[in-house]
Amino acid sequence: MSRVYLVDLGQHVGQEVVIDGWLANMRSKGKLHFLTLRDGTAFRQAIMSKKEVSEEEFETCGRAGIESAVRLRGLVNADDRAPGGYELHVKGFELLAEVHDYPIAKQSSDQSGPGPDFLLDRRHLWLRSRKQHAIMRVRHRIAMTIRNFFDERGFCNVDAPIFTPAACEGTTTLFETKYFDGQAYLTQSGQLYMEAAAMAQGKVYCFGPTFRAEKSKTRRHLTEFWMVEPEIAYAGLDDVMQLAEDFLCRIVADVLERCQEELATLERDVSKLQAITGPFPRMSYTEVVERLNAEGHPFEWGGDFGAPDETKIGSWSDKPMMVHRWPKDIKAFYMAPDPENPKVVLGVDVIAPEGKGEIIGGAQRAHDLGYLEDQIAAHGLPREAFEWYLDLRRYGGIPTAGFGLGLERTVAWITGTEHIRECIPFPRTIYRITP
Ligand code: 4AD
Ligand code: MG
Repeated sequence: MSRVYLVDLGQHVGQEVVIDGWLANMRSKGKLHFLTLRDGTAFRQAIMSKKEVSEEEFETCGRAGIESAVRLRGLVNADDRAPGGYELHVKGFELLAEVHDYPIAKQSSDQSGPGPDFLLDRRHLWLRSRKQHAIMRVRHRIAMTIRNFFDERGFCNVDAPIFTPAACEGTTTLFETKYFDGQAYLTQSGQLYMEAAAMAQGKVYCFGPTFRAEKSKTRRHLTEFWMVEPEIAYAGLDDVMQLAEDFLCRIVADVLERCQEELATLERDVSKLQAITGPFPRMSYTEVVERLNAEGHPFEWGGDFGAPDETKIGSWSDKPMMVHRWPKDIKAFYMAPDPENPKVVLGVDVIAPEGKGEIIGGAQRAHDLGYLEDQIAAHGLPREAFEWYLDLRRYGGIPTAGFGLGLERTVAWITGTEHIRECIPFPRTIYRITP
């Protein structure tokens, strides 16, 4: 008899199989133990009846605590009422690692329930729980879709470095690190490198960890997060807005198709996701400011939107909102000026629905050498560190355009998770670098 994964029980109905897993939960009633098993691939029910196993097996199982490692032999039954549609009738039971007092078992949450720090301190164990398992599976699915989407469209994956000599997204959130006798910064974005790569490969993307020394403690900020950044040569603002729209529709469609069990575990309202189809509303920053004020939400032209503003903007549509043409003074040095209004730049932020805030930031890049030289000076950036970047304008400079999508914010939106820290396996925030 060979080992079977719980997710594959459906292929073994009527057969006896062996499962290696852990006891996620158990309750007993007279001559029956009702087990919830998990083996990493899924959570499923098993029933152990005293008359189907030996006396010793029944007792051993009865005293095994939550998260004990177990090997079960059982008959697979199809049952529509069981979670996942199948359950096991246990015929044999072996306790591989006995556990008592699992620190985050439901039973041990008597100190008025485990708070966020209690669970985050035990993240290495918390990851096993049903909800966290589902969130990580959705994250995995989105990461796969990201790679598939760009590959299918002919984008070449080019990895950006993590040690960098200079800032991409402003100097206030730079992490500095010793680098032999000198210093380096952890990358805030691979974008500048993707511009170089786009001029070598046409259409490129990078996908990896990025770092921001965010001192704010919000539901939306991590100090280490994953970003995917496509960049296209000979492209402009409208091209990246269309790409972002197609990309988000594809991510949502793939999760809806491939993560039904996870979305059910998370009690996600899937009708909200089914509504994510193109076209998405597009508004200029100026139009947004006018509408905010008209709706009695005072906002001064020139400022950056905070979380309450983004929540308000996000409430205007069931779909992601594309806000374009931002005031030059609040955006990064590299954004191209709007030929029709020098006070604004050709940047776009995509704001997720359901109050989840900005998930994408992108732009057409300035390709004029003189303009960029002025911008680097105006932003107080060290010129030497950008000489290589300016070379891209000296040798065949043309408009490139691209965006960055934050993976964790996207996972938070799609899974309906309140806090971004549950959307990365081991979150790093201003107060946390453990476990
Ligand atoms: O808007 P941002 O800063 O854009 C860039 O970095 C561009 N260079 C990207 C590009 O054009 N290639 O960041 C992009 C996205 C945000 O929309 C957000 O989803 C995510 O990265 N992000 C964060 N996610 C979690 N924690 C943080 N501290 C984040 N900062 C940005
Ligand atoms: Mg941004």
